[in-house]
Amino acid sequence: MPDLEITDTTALVTGASRGFGRGIATALSRAGAQVTGVARDRGPMDELRAELGGSFTAVAADAADPNVAGRLIDACKPRILVLNAGATPLPRPIQQHTWETFGRNWDVDVRHVFGWTREALLAPLAPGSIVITLSSGAALRGSPLSGGYAGAKATIRWLTSYAAQESGREGLGIRFVSLLPQLTPATELGAVFAAAYAGRAGGPAGDQGPALTPERVGQAVIELVTGTDPGQDAYLLTAAGLRPL
Ligand SMILES: NC(=O)c1ccc[n+]([C@@H]2O[C@H](COP(=O)([O-])OP(=O)(O)OC[C@H]3O[C@@H](n4cnc5c(N)ncnc54)[C@H](OP(=O)(O)O)[C@@H]3O)[C@@H](O)[C@H]2O)c1
Repeated sequence: MPDLEITDTTALVTGASRGFGRGIATALSRAGAQVTGVARDRGPMDELRAELGGSFTAVAADAADPNVAGRLIDACKPRILVLNAGATPLPRPIQQHTWETFGRNWDVDVRHVFGWTREALLAPLAPGSIVITLSSGAALRGSPLSGGYAGAKATIRWLTSYAAQESGREGLGIRFVSLLPQLTPATELGAVFAAAYAGRAGGPAGDQGPALTPERVGQAVIELVTGTDPGQDAYLLTAAGLRPL
């Protein structure tokens, strides 16, 4: 499968307004892609558009809405699709969750990855395209203060692997890769859980060692898009970089 040239390529990033998604959209835009970003709150998206200029198109929409996935896949035909949007679960031990708060990341994170992945396979995206999904290191280690988060993120990893298999079976030439980032206090979501675990354990916030930054996540996405490891469908991501799983 040919490596993707980023210059003038179409990219679409969900959850682009802040955190990892903003880092990814910025990296792709600076590498020359035409980037469409999706998030619900229009204000931060307009700020990003002002920063990145004409290479960035802001769409204020709910990425978990299947109509949004269908409409934007048809309109943008992205060669690079990054499914990053995610909800921040309530930071509470399991007995303090209700079924609804426990399932929050299934309703947003999993539902959106399911819908967009389905659209990407059915469209189908052009051969040589890549779909990158945001799972989490929590999928490997658990996350006892975030309800169903770790299970939802493990499901995203499996869903992505199943899609990679279907792409291969159908000869579509679409790569599907999941990223499992370490917990970092450098984003709104991560800061909530770094503080929650620090408070619980009485230890330092986040994982030991340097923190993963949105800029490093953006760089990792560029490495995946331009890299030559088509058989690999999941990577752990820390401040030190990508590690195949
Ligand atoms: N930070 C970490 O430590 C960490 C570790 C591992 C994995 N992750 C995963 O990485 C991804 C990004 O995390 P982050 O830390 O950057 O989170 P964040 O700072 O809270 O940003 C989340 C982004 O997703 C958007 N979003 C949320 N729900 C949405 C919806 N229904 N439709 C469209 N956009 C939506 C938000 O914008 P709006 O609210 O305006 O919609 C925002 O742009 C998530 O999937 C997260 O689970 C994060």
